[in-house]
Amino acid sequence: METKVIKITDENIIKACKEAGEIIKCGGLVAFPTETVYGLGGDGLNPESSKKIYAAKGRPSDNPLIIHIADFNDLDKIAKDIPSKACILADKYWPGPLTMRFKKKHSVPDETTGGLDTVAVRMPDNKIALEFIRAAGGFIAAPSANKSGRPSPTKAEHVYDDMNGIIPMILDGGQVGIGIESTIVDFAEGDISILRPGYITPKMIEEVIGESVSLDPSVDGVSSDAHPKAPGMKYKHYAPKAELTILEGESKEVVSYMVSLIRKDKGTKSLGLMIKKENVDTLLSNLTEEEKTKIIIKTIGSAKDPESFAHELYSVLREFDESDVERIYTESIEKKGIGVAVYNRLVRAAGHEVIKIEETE
Ligand code: TXA
Ligand code: MG
Repeated sequence: METKVIKITDENIIKACKEAGEIIKCGGLVAFPTETVYGLGGDGLNPESSKKIYAAKGRPSDNPLIIHIADFNDLDKIAKDIPSKACILADKYWPGPLTMRFKKKHSVPDETTGGLDTVAVRMPDNKIALEFIRAAGGFIAAPSANKSGRPSPTKAEHVYDDMNGIIPMILDGGQVGIGIESTIVDFAEGDISILRPGYITPKMIEEVIGESVSLDPSVDGVSSDAHPKAPGMKYKHYAPKAELTILEGESKEVVSYMVSLIRKDKGTKSLGLMIKKENVDTLLSNLTEEEKTKIIIKTIGSAKDPESFAHELYSVLREFDESDVERIYTESIEKKGIGVAVYNRLVRAAGHEVIKIEETE
């Protein structure tokens, strides 16, 4: 199958989304940009489309799909028992990087929800996504548009790398704004809880609904709970080909530790290092010219701008997959605000390999 990539402009957006909408209505799949990551869309109310999504991604069919809507009034057509607090949240954060889970209506096929009686819904904050959803009939089931186990795509090129020849169309909206997936909030069971951390933090939710929200125990990924409410959280995700280890500690200590690792390394392949922008010069100034040839450095944002980590993480992990490094060490990030969500992705990519570095003086 030939995969058509359409670079979206103000001039062609209506026509391209109409064409994409026709593919969806005929049961086909189209990848599209959202503000979080690229999605792999199919008709959320068509069981055959959902089956195609699982096949294209190589994803286990018990891992449910989020339904994307473009009009708040459509929520009621797929979800039931919608509490008023969910409406308040939608009013504040939709369109936006917030997914809410409710009991599902019969209109949603089991194939879309992996057999669950709940449905996760979100309204993305992206002009192309909204235009496309409307043109496609209003209900787009979409997981992230990566092959299962690969980092989520933040550029159309990433989608192309994973889906070329597998899907008929990619709507190219350039690099996404946020870079990690939406926050998932559960309204389907008594307590309001977060099933997956994202850009919208617990504090941002609590401020709006005036009630405290808990993090589902499966969120840290090391919990003994083998049945997380968001099935996707149980799978090893985003694992780079090289072994990834997080170095936790003060930047100065982490940089010294990296230098010592480079000195000790007897391997023939390069070491991969992920480091904050402000620390690159210090690291390089401590290395000989020969040592510099033994490493591949990639920056993961700046401590002054925590959102930059979300923006760059998946891209950097993909770049390392293209290189031949066997080991990657990364600076950690502050687990505050959006840092909680980014760390959640990072520590899962690292398979929970974390080295805590103590101060030496
Ligand atoms: O930002 C996002 O949410 C992106 C963009 C494309 O919208 N989508 C995304 O979808 O990240 P996906 O399929 O890669 O991740 C969806 C997560 C999975 O962990 C899945 O298990 C969980 O949401 N999920 C979906 N429906 C659910 C349900 N009914 N109950 C529990 N978890 C659900
Ligand atoms: Mg995903």
